[in-house]
Amino acid sequence: MKTILDATSGSVLGIVGLFLVLLLNDKACDAGITSKYVRRLQASIDLPLDSPHFSIPPGHNAPEQVHITQGDYEGRAIVVSWITPSPSRSKVVYGITIGKYDHEATGSVTRYTFFNYTSGYIHHTTLNDLEFDTTYHYKLGNGTSAREFSFTTPPKVGPDVPYTFGIIGDLGQTYDSLNTFQHYLSSKGKTLLFVGDLSYADNYPFDYNVRWDTWGRLVEPSTAYQPWIWTAGNHEIEFRPDIGETVPFKPYAHRYHVPYLASNSTSHLWYAIKRASVHIIVLSSYSAYGKYTPQWVWLQTELAKVDRTVTPWLIVLVHSPLYNSNVYHYMEGETFRVQFESWFVKYKVDIIFSGHVHAYERSHRISNVAYNIVNTNCTPILDDRAPVYVTIGDGGNIEGIAGNFTEPQPAYSAFREASFGHAILDIKSRTHALFYWHRNQDGNSAVGDSYLLLNRFYSA
Ligand SMILES: [Fe+2]
Repeated sequence: MKTILDATSGSVLGIVGLFLVLLLNDKACDAGITSKYVRRLQASIDLPLDSPHFSIPPGHNAPEQVHITQGDYEGRAIVVSWITPSPSRSKVVYGITIGKYDHEATGSVTRYTFFNYTSGYIHHTTLNDLEFDTTYHYKLGNGTSAREFSFTTPPKVGPDVPYTFGIIGDLGQTYDSLNTFQHYLSSKGKTLLFVGDLSYADNYPFDYNVRWDTWGRLVEPSTAYQPWIWTAGNHEIEFRPDIGETVPFKPYAHRYHVPYLASNSTSHLWYAIKRASVHIIVLSSYSAYGKYTPQWVWLQTELAKVDRTVTPWLIVLVHSPLYNSNVYHYMEGETFRVQFESWFVKYKVDIIFSGHVHAYERSHRISNVAYNIVNTNCTPILDDRAPVYVTIGDGGNIEGIAGNFTEPQPAYSAFREASFGHAILDIKSRTHALFYWHRNQDGNSAVGDSYLLLNRFYSA
């Protein structure tokens, strides 16, 4: 515990006892908790198109839907993306002093059509060779339409680099989504790990892509200022042969660029980045992952590249959960689990975040890799080498809460609750991290579930 006490503020000291209790519970694999919290039942309704949260910035051809993501393998590049209604240059001016933009970069522009929708001009520009741990200010557009934002690069990749991530999944654009988003805005998250299902535009007839634009405006107050690390979900597929749209992930691919080439991936749907003390691997539930497929080959190579003495923390993001005891989407991730769980155990992945199921659930450290068809060892067991699995598809989208858990609660499930919310992963040192889940009904300082994460490389 000395490491935690050294690394954390006084406010954390008061909850150390709670974490000790949680840790003991984890070791003993006591019966899990199904939270008795009763969420007020109400429909999740999308914000109206004329919501002020969707307002278009003033001025001729003003940049909108601004979002940034990490642009390289180690955190010295940022991809800046935005949309303009009319053609314009994909130019970003930037510098370390507000108003003094002594650097500039120019990227590329793209557009797409989807059935009877035509997108605006989508710009993607990469800012390279940034200094670590530095705040940059940047400006898009010209004259009275120009807009200015800022971001802070992460510290240099290394084993002793504290960093704070937020985690959101299945956000959508309802009143509940807004609640989740505003809670996250007031958190101390520096980078958001998004586990898939962004806009839910495909919930409308003909995948009404105007709802991609409104979503881009909704989240801009965060996405323009800190990287969101993107994972594709099923609502990004938008495979609609019935209306002539046969290219999967078309709107998502045009709007949200990721640095997949930097990790030698051949697809934007799976890739990896290093950030601070973490190696983050993003996978695709909706791409081939059988043996010898491109994703399988890439993951095998990437896992072997992870150096825990440099990045002690290893996190996987994948949309469909491998362990989940909700009735909804039950066992959809099972074939993915069968394919990759043994690797996640072998490489001691610390935690796997998923979405898809619109509720919150955290597992004990368990594995189910002993079964070989002829033996009967097909029940998950406590396994100190194994990841914690967190399902956090509770962003608040239009499909509503997934309120039906299977009963009884399986032994592998540590805590589950059917409420909307977000999570924070607060990495304190190479050995310790604090994980918090916040339900929307509470103030941001209230913790709905918490867990002391002990690094697998150093602890298992
Ligand atoms: Fe989903």
